[in-house]
Amino acid sequence: METFKKHFTAMAPLAPTLQLFLDHQATLSRCPSSVEAQDEFAECVSSDAAFPVGAGYKLKLLNLYASKVERLGGFIESDNFSEVMVAAMSNAKLDDGMDPEYTCCQSFADARLGGVVASRIYPRHNDVGLRLWEAGYILAEFICDNPSLFAGKTVTELGAGCGLTGMIAGSVGRAKRVFVTDYTVETLDNMRHNVEINEAYLAVTETPLDVMTVHHLDWSQTAKNSTDVCVTDADVMMAADCVYDVCVIPCLVETVSTFLSQSREKVCFIATTFRNEKTFALFISELEKAGVQYDSLVYEGNGTFEGVWNVCERERVKMHMFRNK
Ligand SMILES: C[S@@+](CC[C@H](N)C(=O)[O-])C[C@H]1O[C@@H](n2cnc3c(N)ncnc32)[C@H](O)[C@@H]1O
Repeated sequence: METFKKHFTAMAPLAPTLQLFLDHQATLSRCPSSVEAQDEFAECVSSDAAFPVGAGYKLKLLNLYASKVERLGGFIESDNFSEVMVAAMSNAKLDDGMDPEYTCCQSFADARLGGVVASRIYPRHNDVGLRLWEAGYILAEFICDNPSLFAGKTVTELGAGCGLTGMIAGSVGRAKRVFVTDYTVETLDNMRHNVEINEAYLAVTETPLDVMTVHHLDWSQTAKNSTDVCVTDADVMMAADCVYDVCVIPCLVETVSTFLSQSREKVCFIATTFRNEKTFALFISELEKAGVQYDSLVYEGNGTFEGVWNVCERERVKMHMFRNK
């Protein structure tokens, strides 16, 4: 049952999540059509854990359960189930509005993480830093698979958005210090909130809270940035899904090349979702002009951050490693 609850809280893909509940009921010799099983399902779905689960997700899961019961020739007989369904329907309607202030939490539980890590996101907000992006998951998975590249290092994440990838560098990656940087007030506030709500996760993974520093860094201020502590002190720079706008490529390139030019030991990992080949080609050619060399890394992720919203673009994410020539 605990496994089901973890998947439910993480808003993991619906069918395998429901199956975990049904498997548990089978061990109790209960059929999904029984009132007992329906009551227990309703109780699980209605009791929010530390991180709120979106009403839209709850509704889809309840519908999936109801279809399963129908296919078995049964009915929803539990009053509790019906009540939870009605509540989810009306809340999902509210969620489905375009309110940019609507928030929910996406959380992940996996043995590799050693705990439950959560991010508050604003799925309707226009600010791209208030959501999680596939490249961020892949970079986080890369850290889980290659902790030695980050252990004991000072790491600066550019365009860190919700801060998830940076937190993984601090916890699983065992970085000495992590600067999670971004430039909008909203993104930085949300990132601070996310570090705070993960205090328990960081404690479970024996990561002191002060490893994480939320820090303002605007690539367009590169001249000023070159003396910024998060550029001068970092051993590793990293960024996920930051190569998407040709207008900001020159300043992003300058930030990365300024950092790399300080020592040949410094290294930068960038995970990019390939939406437009030309944008990335421009990024590479500008970096080459600045004397930076790169390697393509063959890395497809390990699935730690599989969730409900991130299934579509994984295969388009490519990883690269940059160093000074
Ligand atoms: C597509 S989001 C990726 C967020 C996060 N890395 C992830 O993978 O979930 C791009 C990020 O770059 C940030 N960004 C864009 N322009 C920037 C600039 N000039 N300086 C600093 N950050 C910037 C945005 O605020 C946003 O957080």
